[in-house]
Amino acid sequence: MAENSRTKYALVGTGQRAMGMFTTPIASRYRDQAELVGICDTNPGRLELHNTILKEELGYHEVPAFLADDFDRMIEQTRPDCVIVATVDRFHDFYANRAMEMGCDAITEKPMTISAAKCRAILETVKRTGKNLRVTFNYRWRPGTTLVKQLLGEGVIGEIVHVDMEYLLNTSHGADYFRRWHREKEMSGGLLIHKASHHFDLVNWWIDAVPEVVFGMGRLAFYGRENAESRGIEVSYDHYTGNDTSDDPFALDLSTDEKLSRLYIEPEKHDGYRRDRNVFGDNITIEDTMSALVRYRTGAVLNYSLNAYLPREGYTVMFNGTKGRLEYHEAEASHIVPGRAVAVAGEEVTWRSRLIVHPLFSPAYEVDIPAAVGGHGGGDPLLQEQIFSPDAPEDPWGRSAGHEQGAAAMLVGDAANQSMETGAPISISDTCPPLGDARVLSELT
Ligand SMILES: NC(=O)c1ccc[n+]([C@@H]2O[C@H](COP(=O)([O-])OP(=O)(O)OC[C@H]3O[C@@H](n4cnc5c(N)ncnc54)[C@H](O)[C@@H]3O)[C@@H](O)[C@H]2O)c1
Repeated sequence: MAENSRTKYALVGTGQRAMGMFTTPIASRYRDQAELVGICDTNPGRLELHNTILKEELGYHEVPAFLADDFDRMIEQTRPDCVIVATVDRFHDFYANRAMEMGCDAITEKPMTISAAKCRAILETVKRTGKNLRVTFNYRWRPGTTLVKQLLGEGVIGEIVHVDMEYLLNTSHGADYFRRWHREKEMSGGLLIHKASHHFDLVNWWIDAVPEVVFGMGRLAFYGRENAESRGIEVSYDHYTGNDTSDDPFALDLSTDEKLSRLYIEPEKHDGYRRDRNVFGDNITIEDTMSALVRYRTGAVLNYSLNAYLPREGYTVMFNGTKGRLEYHEAEASHIVPGRAVAVAGEEVTWRSRLIVHPLFSPAYEVDIPAAVGGHGGGDPLLQEQIFSPDAPEDPWGRSAGHEQGAAAMLVGDAANQSMETGAPISISDTCPPLGDARVLSELT
């Protein structure tokens, strides 16, 4: 392909996710179709690291780097077709809006944004500019989740009336949200937005319905100083690296991991950001125990829970329909701390999924799930192909998500957050009228 026909991307937010999900495919597999023209971040250390990896590990070249205050200058000088936003969640709206106002399309990591007010502003910008905004919901692209969509779409259990979804985060991955910026609600919106927007998006898409009324409950029940001390756990350090944490199963020593050390220890001197805060420290403003009841415009109801301190990771979702029931289960690893326990046979499995259909009046049957290849259960590489390859295969399951799907997912978490505060159910038509009157998600335009 000729050099000048490549799609030009600028990237804002050069942290952990950006390198694997966006920069690496642009600089390697899709080098002939895509070009990285500029990178932007608040932290000059991570900008420099990004360029070092581009040049020395990916065999690419350094690209012009800009501090956040120079975002506009980056767009003016490098003229990207599309801006990729992979910053801390709180700033997704700012960069997506600014990119579209300056004539670019935008791709944002999930969640699209963290409050209904910010969401309304994004929908308004898309309408006014006519630009395209994509939200990278990679969970849709996993083989198992796609198969669920296919079977429900074929009507194997008839019309869907009720959905139950339980999501488990373990003491490794789940705990990590309480070490990083995610622990501050004003940065991430809390896990009902940051994490659950994946799950609410899946349910919205699976049942092709628009969420309407949400009732939420939640609290910080496990992490945080107060909870720890009430269980007799002494909290003597604010962060892990450099302290004696030999007896602490939640400790993360950044210096023992080359990748984490380069990304977060060196750059810390520029902004003071610590990625290894004690999960039992002070000033955690998000919940670790959450439930939401969601009524859809079709009348279907979702019963959802998310807990972030469990021995194992994964989820179960059950759909009850007019012709039967479909159960889907994804199991990930238990968190076993070496020296504290020995893995039980079978528990060392890192990924396992199972799909069972129970038709009314007939025997249940299991459906084989194609093997997953690549990051996030096989979702990342398929999504990267859709984003970066002009020859990406047709997608009969509508897995690409735009601004309305991004909105529908995060608005459920936002409404659950508001409901937690007020004790009352929250209507999404009130928090975000521009979402429209459509009953099904596929009718949103
Ligand atoms: N889809 C997925 O499965 C998935 C997985 C991981 C992360 N993510 C998303 O990716 C995004 C980044 O997460 P991460 O894990 O890489 O976090 P990170 O902390 O490693 O990176 C965030 C980056 O944003 C930069 N930043 C902060 N404020 C900024 C601002 N105002 N302007 C410009 N840059 C700013 C930080 O300096 C940092 O480099 C998040 O939105 C997260 O939700 C998605």
